[in-house]
Amino acid sequence: MKKIAILGSTGYIGRQALEVVRAYPNDFKIIGLSANKNKKLLEEQIKEFKPLTTSIGGKNLEKIATHPDVDLVLVAVVGLAGLKPTLAAIKARKNIALTTKEVLVLAGELVMNEVKKNKINIIPVDSEHSAIFQCLKTGRKKEIKKIILTMGKGQFANMSQKELAKITLRDIYKHPTWIMGNKITIDSATCLNKSFEVIEAKWLFDLSSEAIEIMVHPEYLCHSLVEFIDGSNVAEFGTQDMRRYIQYALFYPNRKQAVITNSLNLFNKTITFEPPPFEKFPGLELGFDAIRAGGTMPAVMHGADDTAVEEFIKEKIKFTDIARVIKITMSDHQVIKKPDLEEILKANEWGKIRAKKLIEKKFI
Ligand SMILES: NC(=O)c1ccc[n+]([C@@H]2O[C@H](COP(=O)([O-])OP(=O)(O)OC[C@H]3O[C@@H](n4cnc5c(N)ncnc54)[C@H](OP(=O)(O)O)[C@@H]3O)[C@@H](O)[C@H]2O)c1
Repeated sequence: MKKIAILGSTGYIGRQALEVVRAYPNDFKIIGLSANKNKKLLEEQIKEFKPLTTSIGGKNLEKIATHPDVDLVLVAVVGLAGLKPTLAAIKARKNIALTTKEVLVLAGELVMNEVKKNKINIIPVDSEHSAIFQCLKTGRKKEIKKIILTMGKGQFANMSQKELAKITLRDIYKHPTWIMGNKITIDSATCLNKSFEVIEAKWLFDLSSEAIEIMVHPEYLCHSLVEFIDGSNVAEFGTQDMRRYIQYALFYPNRKQAVITNSLNLFNKTITFEPPPFEKFPGLELGFDAIRAGGTMPAVMHGADDTAVEEFIKEKIKFTDIARVIKITMSDHQVIKKPDLEEILKANEWGKIRAKKLIEKKFI
């Protein structure tokens, strides 16, 4: 029986993970659960899963992540809250199932050095990264030519630059009650989210920027590919159901008969691929720029994005200004190579403040 801690058990991914756990009662024991504000749901989860340790409001996450009984920590909190507990869990030699992007976007080098040092597994849960992780089982590291992250077409793909500049929050969110928070929806619209995925992939799979490509795949049937040096392309296809990827990560290195997810039926499906829209969505290039610059640059990029999205929500800048603000902020930054955690967090703050100043002074 695998003993699990879930950081962020009341969130979307956390709840889906508990559905998987519920479906396999003889395979998992929940040791720790955590919520930020949703006390009511956490209490229901405690009643059902009887964890040994819990946390509310972001307190004691490190304690849960390093509990002596835990084998695997599923990191599913949002943002920076996941960084310190993940590092603590790795140092305590726990395996990690990772969904929280910020952990690798900000501190990829630091985190992966600890992963190697402590000889633990870090299993991605994000669909594209899980797809690549699975494809890579068919070859060795030195046999990889490149990985290809797939992305959807996006709701604004057919707009001109003029039309893109006029996009409002209401165009992005189909439902007005989503307007607060949910930054990821805006990051997806600007393609910054894909840029963060590029950085995540760089660290997870130890690749240079030249070995990472992006391809538009509107049908969402293929979730990413690997091309090996002999010209073989290995892809992962499946239903678009996060529980499938969570199940894979929780059972890794084994696979288990699916009971709550469906099989993919490919009959009569159209499958198309298109080149990535770098010109239309300059945010897509920024992840590659950040990898090439290295050190503290991804942390700065992330901080600048936080500010730019916030200012877009407040209608202080246009949709097309988001990537511009981040790009200028990045060009103003003096990179610190091989940063420690403190330097990374400082760089992230610097990115936020610098972007804010740029916007105030109408540098854009
Ligand atoms: N949703 C997806 O399909 C998907 C796919 C791939 C990757 N991801 C990534 O997975 C992570 C989780 O996504 P999600 O959709 O599950 O997010 P979510 O629904 O917003 O849930 C986030 C979880 O983290 C907790 N939390 C929020 N702020 C916190 C803080 N400051 N300290 C401690 N805990 C905090 C929340 O608690 P409360 O419920 O109490 O607020 C909740 O349990 C994100 O990094 C996201 O980018 C998500």
